[in-house]
Amino acid sequence: MTRRILLIVGGGIAAYKACELIRLCRKAGIAVKCVLTGGGSHFVTPMTLAALSENQVHTTLWDLKDEAEMGHIQLSREADLVVVAPATADLLAKMAAGIADDLATTLLLATDKPVLAAPAMNVRMWQHAATRRNVARLRGDGVTVLEPDEGPMACGEYGPGRLPEPEAILVAIERALGGPPDRGRLAGKHILVTAGPTHEPIDPVRYIANRSSGRQGFAIAEALAALGARVTLVAGPVSIPTPAGVIRIDVETAREMAEAVAAALPADAAVMVAAVADWRAEAAAGQKIKKGEGGPPSLTLSENPDILAALAASPKRPRLVIGFAAETERVVEHATAKRQRKNADWIVANDVSGDVMGGEANTVHLVTAEGVEHWERLPKSEVAARLAARIADAL
Ligand code: CTP
Repeated sequence: MTRRILLIVGGGIAAYKACELIRLCRKAGIAVKCVLTGGGSHFVTPMTLAALSENQVHTTLWDLKDEAEMGHIQLSREADLVVVAPATADLLAKMAAGIADDLATTLLLATDKPVLAAPAMNVRMWQHAATRRNVARLRGDGVTVLEPDEGPMACGEYGPGRLPEPEAILVAIERALGGPPDRGRLAGKHILVTAGPTHEPIDPVRYIANRSSGRQGFAIAEALAALGARVTLVAGPVSIPTPAGVIRIDVETAREMAEAVAAALPADAAVMVAAVADWRAEAAAGQKIKKGEGGPPSLTLSENPDILAALAASPKRPRLVIGFAAETERVVEHATAKRQRKNADWIVANDVSGDVMGGEANTVHLVTAEGVEHWERLPKSEVAARLAARIADAL
């Protein structure tokens, strides 16, 4: 059965992204009917939305042909999901207060279907106490309000308030509709994921580490599990909740991670996202090193095992081995060399010279034997969803 959404396009500069969202929904097999608010019509035209959705676009309460049949009630209920994108501060406020003074707000009050709102507004408006209150109230009422993206805004300011990318909104729509139809695409497959940093002890209280937050790896484990895979997640020391349906093995050091990975085989695929420490203190002190007379102690390092390279060389090599390459310069060049050196099938390369580590978004390049694909800046969850889909294609 065709899945259907009612898309309410509010009045903000991000309304143009609603056009792309319609296209993506249609591609995913979701039928779209649009309602354009008065404000929205200053940014996109009914004609654009009608052409993309291949459906009549509604703009006012009074153009519904047969109000005798309560056309607006019907319109609000015939979809499986009502999506508001962009949801302006004004629309969110009206939704929270239950105001129904135009077609969009009347439909939102009359619907008996789940509602998903993708906010877009100036950063101050998003952070304003009134908006915080409205969003909290809407969430309390069961409305899914997405977090806006952070970045430079059309108004010249910087911060949270940008409309999430259409791809991310589509993921949320799919989730609200009960998941994409290809839910079980990885059923029966075992996939191994490593994530997070490793901690290499210097003495009982000190260690060598890096800035990895583990978020990208956890998101990948979650996305693979969502496609039905059995996922073993070998996690370095991070405090992130375990995604639903994922088997998690916590480790501290690179050597523990290497052992856990070997023990988890066989696997159909491995995604090595962990930022494994390359070096460890050659001999960790058994007791806390004290500040002495002789000045600072010197630290002798020895190299950790390369887990990815060992896995790729092992007789139990998974069919698909994917590595990550965190680089601060010449990203694709280094990643291409790393793919060959470590005998990985794919390398997902990213530039970590900015705020990627610990941040919410990632700009990655997928390096395969066929070449390099450049993905746009995406939320880590969306990078994960795309990669999981590609893994499902490959297996
Ligand atoms: N990796 C690993 N074991 C290590 C080091 C890295 O499994 N001891 C894996 C990472 O999980 C990642 C990939 O190898 O998938 C690339 O890691 P990176 O640290 O970028 O590569 P390095 O081997 O450190 O190479 P370089 O020093 O040239 O950056």
